[in-house]
Amino acid sequence: MRVVSGIQPTGNLHLGNYLGAIRNWVRMQDEMGDGSDCLFFLADLHAISQPHIPAELASATLEMTAALVACGIDPNRSILFNQAQVPAHAELQWLLNGTARMGWLNRMTQWKDKAGKNREGQSVALFTYPVLQAADVLLYQATHVPVGEDQKQHLELARDIAQKFNNDFCSENAPVFTLPEPIVPPEAARIMSLRDGSAKMSKSDPSDMSRINLSDDADEIMKKVKKAKTDPEPLPSEAAGLEGRPEALNLVGIYCALTGKTTDEVLGEFGGQGFGVFKPALGEVLVETVSPITTRFRELKADREALDAILARGAARAREMGLTTLGKAYEALGVVRW
Ligand code: TYM
Repeated sequence: MRVVSGIQPTGNLHLGNYLGAIRNWVRMQDEMGDGSDCLFFLADLHAISQPHIPAELASATLEMTAALVACGIDPNRSILFNQAQVPAHAELQWLLNGTARMGWLNRMTQWKDKAGKNREGQSVALFTYPVLQAADVLLYQATHVPVGEDQKQHLELARDIAQKFNNDFCSENAPVFTLPEPIVPPEAARIMSLRDGSAKMSKSDPSDMSRINLSDDADEIMKKVKKAKTDPEPLPSEAAGLEGRPEALNLVGIYCALTGKTTDEVLGEFGGQGFGVFKPALGEVLVETVSPITTRFRELKADREALDAILARGAARAREMGLTTLGKAYEALGVVRW
């Protein structure tokens, strides 16, 4: 089993990232025990596919490193690094660009959402972004990739690229790439915005009230939950009653994900009651989860040297681990590197 996943170091780590992905990273790391089979990285090369502020990228990368460690990623048991320190990611992307098809990339919903009506004006990097993501996991022969629901399609593309490359360039019993499996937590596949139950919670939402950041203090969390959009009806007593009520569904979903309770259990407790009762309860479990992370995050982020060292050590190990597959990919393509 080889677990690989990444996160863009833009903005704050939020509850959607945590429940959709990072919590699973930590669980998988803890279950695997052994140090060499989990690789987690800051996708700084992905972050430059859209307009960004260069002066902020390096500090955002270090902050996100601190946030991941605060969430429970242990740099002694997992390999934690940033993409830019491992040139093989970009190199392998170029090799895979020959295999990925324009039609496949054109179908990516994230590309369609981000480009909107202005496709011609987008960077080539935004379009080929999923090929870099494929390189990220294929380079290490990833078997399991813990992600939120929104990244599942990119992982399916990575599988298609791996399969086509293996078919086109490898003999049947010596494929270069392993087909990776996306691991999406059913209870928190898609955490939605607190302001709009039909939009996912996201770093790029201009309203900070739309998300719980893992750096928010207890007062901020309580305020955001209190102001979260809801409808005027009380909570139903059964899951079916949440249909057509996206905001209620989202808040109940977050409560379930945080407490490990089922929807029926939560509705058994709160059914028939208004949000005036449910929201403070939700705020409390949120604070319970987020506060210890915030405390650790603040301590870690102040230690620049320690963060630099974590990334340097992780990158050295990742560079080493990627060598064989990169070499095999070059060889399969007939590109000789004297
Ligand atoms: P990114 O940085 O947008 O998000 C990091 C992880 O958080 C998950 N996530 C969510 N899950 C549930 N609900 C939400 N509202 C929510 N928002 C974000 C994402 O699914 C993701 O797992 N392209 C990737 C980064 C990446 C990557 C990779 C991931 C680059 N290379 C290789 C896996 C493997 C991205 O932008 O994720």
